[in-house]
Amino acid sequence: EKSLVILGIESSCDDTSASVIRNEYILSNIIANQDVHKLYGGVIPELASRAHQQSIIPVVDRALSVAGVTRKEIDVVAFTRGPGLLGSLLVGTSFAKGFSLGLNIPMVEVNHLQGHVLAHFLREEGKPMRYPAFPFLCLLVSGGNSQLVLVKDYLEMTVVGQTLDDAAGEAFDKCAKVMGLPYPGGPLIDKLAKEGNPKAFKFNKPVIQGYNYSFSGLKTSFLYFLRDALVLNPNFIEENQADLCASLQATIIDILMDKLIKLAKEYGVTEIAVAGGVSANSGLRQRMIDEGAKRGWNVYIPDFRYTTDNAAMIAIAGYYSYLKGNRASLDIAPLARMVF
Ligand code: KG4
Repeated sequence: EKSLVILGIESSCDDTSASVIRNEYILSNIIANQDVHKLYGGVIPELASRAHQQSIIPVVDRALSVAGVTRKEIDVVAFTRGPGLLGSLLVGTSFAKGFSLGLNIPMVEVNHLQGHVLAHFLREEGKPMRYPAFPFLCLLVSGGNSQLVLVKDYLEMTVVGQTLDDAAGEAFDKCAKVMGLPYPGGPLIDKLAKEGNPKAFKFNKPVIQGYNYSFSGLKTSFLYFLRDALVLNPNFIEENQADLCASLQATIIDILMDKLIKLAKEYGVTEIAVAGGVSANSGLRQRMIDEGAKRGWNVYIPDFRYTTDNAAMIAIAGYYSYLKGNRASLDIAPLARMVF
């Protein structure tokens, strides 16, 4: 088998990332976070685009030097076409076009969400590898998406259910904001929840038919709950922070797992994977492992580094797409919304 060297470019939201892989093996994966958004409690699209422009060339240079490959050794450039913030996507897409044109190599477009799912197939030299067998179910939970994906083959995926409003990561981040925690609140809630009682408070779970999710109601009920509690005790949040985080986290995990369990039963699938930024959540990871042991699932949780936005997942998705014969042309435009 001929070895292929792929450069992956990811710029869909607020992380600028470049990665070099050789077939499925990671040679480098560089991520530049954008601290500027912390000042505002959320991602400001225009600032994200500008930060991508500043970071993209140094990030790619670093990815090449860490991988120990020269530009001339790159066979294919893979980039995130969408979904994401249009201005941010434009930076990565334009860079990929320039790179492809300048070096006269093919480029391949990647759907960011498929990238999250395919992160499971990334390999590291010298490390044992365990990856899901087809067909598998993937719970894809990030700051922008919450989906249940049936994966029949590398690029053959069907979204069986998805959020009708907010994503799970948004629920974490927005509730954290209500508690006065800095952005992004997800990781902080995770940390604080470890000291709290998940049964201290009860928040309503939405009633949604089928396999879809909804998180906007939870956010509103959390807001109203705190508003009422603060009338009686102005220090309510500080005094109950750990319990609030633990209870909120438990509710979000319950909502996610209820549908996943139902779907796994319905489809008779026991290969279960999780992907996306929220899969870094320690409570969700533990719950997946526990349910797996109880239900005879084989559970796959990607390495911490490959759960949040990164270009290695884009490179591997591009690799499979390239092998299938897909190529992007120079007139390709990024897409803020993109289905698969
Ligand atoms: O996939 P990702 O990096 O990118 C976006 O889709 O934006 O996901 C980021 C999301 C954020 O909402 C963040 O709060 C959440 O993942 N997140 C977590 C944890 N780590 C990241 N949520 C809960 N617990 C965590 N440990």
